[in-house]
Amino acid sequence: MTEKKKYYISTPIYYPSANLHVGHTYCTVMADAMARYKRATGYDVMFLTGADEHGQKIQTLAEAKGVTPQEYVDEVVEGIKDLWKTMEISYDDFIRTTEPRHVKRVQQIFMKMYEKGDIYKGEYEGLYCTPCESFWTESQLVDGCCPDCGRPVQKAKEEAYFFKISKYQDRLIELLSGDEFLQPASRRNEMLGFINQGLDDLCISRTSFDWGIPVPIDDKHVIYVWLDALTNYITALGYPDEPEKYEKYWPVNVHLVGKEIVRFHSIIWPAILMSIDEPLPQKVLGHGWLLMGDSGKISKSKANKGVDVIDPVVLIDRYGVDALKYFLLREYTFGQDGHFNNEVMLKRLNFDLANDLGNLVSRTVSMIEKYNDGIIPDAKIEDEFDKDLKKIAIGAADKVDAQMDKFAFNMALEEIWVVIRRANKYIDEKMPWVLAKDEAQKDNLDTCLHNLAEALRIVSILINPFMHTTAGKIRKQLGIALYDIVWEDASEFNMLCQEKVKKGDAIFPRLDIEKELEELAELAGGPKEEPMVYKDDIEFDDFDKVDLRVAKVLECEKHPNADKLLVFQLQVGTERRQIISGVAKDFKPEELIGKNVIIVANLKPRKLRGLESQGMILYAENGEHLALVSTEAENGNSVN
Ligand code: MSP
Repeated sequence: MTEKKKYYISTPIYYPSANLHVGHTYCTVMADAMARYKRATGYDVMFLTGADEHGQKIQTLAEAKGVTPQEYVDEVVEGIKDLWKTMEISYDDFIRTTEPRHVKRVQQIFMKMYEKGDIYKGEYEGLYCTPCESFWTESQLVDGCCPDCGRPVQKAKEEAYFFKISKYQDRLIELLSGDEFLQPASRRNEMLGFINQGLDDLCISRTSFDWGIPVPIDDKHVIYVWLDALTNYITALGYPDEPEKYEKYWPVNVHLVGKEIVRFHSIIWPAILMSIDEPLPQKVLGHGWLLMGDSGKISKSKANKGVDVIDPVVLIDRYGVDALKYFLLREYTFGQDGHFNNEVMLKRLNFDLANDLGNLVSRTVSMIEKYNDGIIPDAKIEDEFDKDLKKIAIGAADKVDAQMDKFAFNMALEEIWVVIRRANKYIDEKMPWVLAKDEAQKDNLDTCLHNLAEALRIVSILINPFMHTTAGKIRKQLGIALYDIVWEDASEFNMLCQEKVKKGDAIFPRLDIEKELEELAELAGGPKEEPMVYKDDIEFDDFDKVDLRVAKVLECEKHPNADKLLVFQLQVGTERRQIISGVAKDFKPEELIGKNVIIVANLKPRKLRGLESQGMILYAENGEHLALVSTEAENGNSVN
């Protein structure tokens, strides 16, 4: 047996600063679809993702939360892994930059670069925000101030190690001038322009925070994030000390990255690899951003500023994993930005999934049950409609292949939907319900049912990389095995043979778009967590002066001289008291009689509109109204 060809694909490693939003899932969903597609088409796949856990920002967030940075990232990373599990992301390895395997290998890589003479000690000069203990570049500032806290920054210097990236300038220009390495092509000129301005040596260590991998020769310093982060793509493979996987999978076939980090992947990362004399990535693919309304990229920092961030879990809970995956892959064009819009999403789910695919499945299976006792019949004849459906169905796999070669997920899905729509049209053309009424048309009817089942079998193979749960559901209804999906079988017809179908639930229920839109809007605008604001602290002794008692309401009536006031007659132990409260708009007097309330018994008596009030009854705010603070305890008892 010949050895399988290898295919290595990576996503960026995500910052575990907060939970991931739907923008992050976009990249991972694309990588997952590609990994599944490559596995289906016979490759030995390595699909890597992970978390980028070091740096000032994480340290600051952890301090604010009162936990260690490790505790902080452990919690967020667990959530990220749960999300990928929910989304059925088929990664082969998840690398965390805090894992010992990564830490030791980054240090080994640092030493290789150092020994090569590519790293030297110098002074880093930047714009420093003292409260945040962070260096910023001019372009990172917002209105000239720190992008995190908005306070002014000062010029400052610190000792740092530098990577002589300028040494590799010519090789980088050569690399980026080729057609293959960086796509889309528009990014190439941007990167070349950047290099042609002259590359400054890169600062690769920091002393202003310590949440990072120590520089092996100088533990005052930690390795600054990008050297730590980018090397994950090879440390996860065991480079340099356990090279077996590395030798098998490196160089990577594709680094899939968002457009804002293309620069790090297409300039800094190849330069690091040049420094350690290792092969360069075959391809860096930059994808666009998902934008939310007019408010720009969906981002975690925006969440803090009150812009809605779409939580993938909310969408998955409502519509299912495959619906979200389908929408992300079908709606957006690789390399371009796209707007995330609930209405567009819901329409796609209804039209493409519930109508086109869902109906095809349920109509096909129902008709086989109704007209042939649930057995998929053999094909008997072939007319023009049959020929056309067959041609389109068996030709789809090649078309999907061609689109997947270009990472055109949306077009690959479109090719599959050509088959689905053709099959729906075929039902209307053949009208099996008419054929069923005429015994003489039995062969024609059998052929029709067979061909529909065949088209669906092919669809189930082709959608498997994108929506594999749905592929399984379709196959189950067709009575064919879930596990033996073979890509080549999508180019064959007449493979089904007397299987027994089994109708199941609708694979995608139809959604009430208006209702969903309202509910999604409510969820997005949902209860915003307002910080609690308390009155100033008091001493315990002050609190202890307040005598709270249980009292029973004996009588309650409106104040004769004031509309807003109610006059209460209360039993407090053996004593009777009168208390007046301004709660006439919140309660009807008769509702309160017999209730046990809590009163401040030692409040100095005072006159309210001519009547004496001997204390105060407690109420709690409840929206715009007040609620009684009541108890089942005996009246007269103290409340502590
Ligand atoms: N940790 C670095 C990557 C290091 S890779 C060696 C990082 N992390 S990140 O969490 O901020 O972003 C990870 C990826 O998510 C980036 O590729 C980024 O483009 C992507 N996205 C974040 N928000 C996004 C959208 N709204 N839309 C699409 N992708 C977006 O950068």
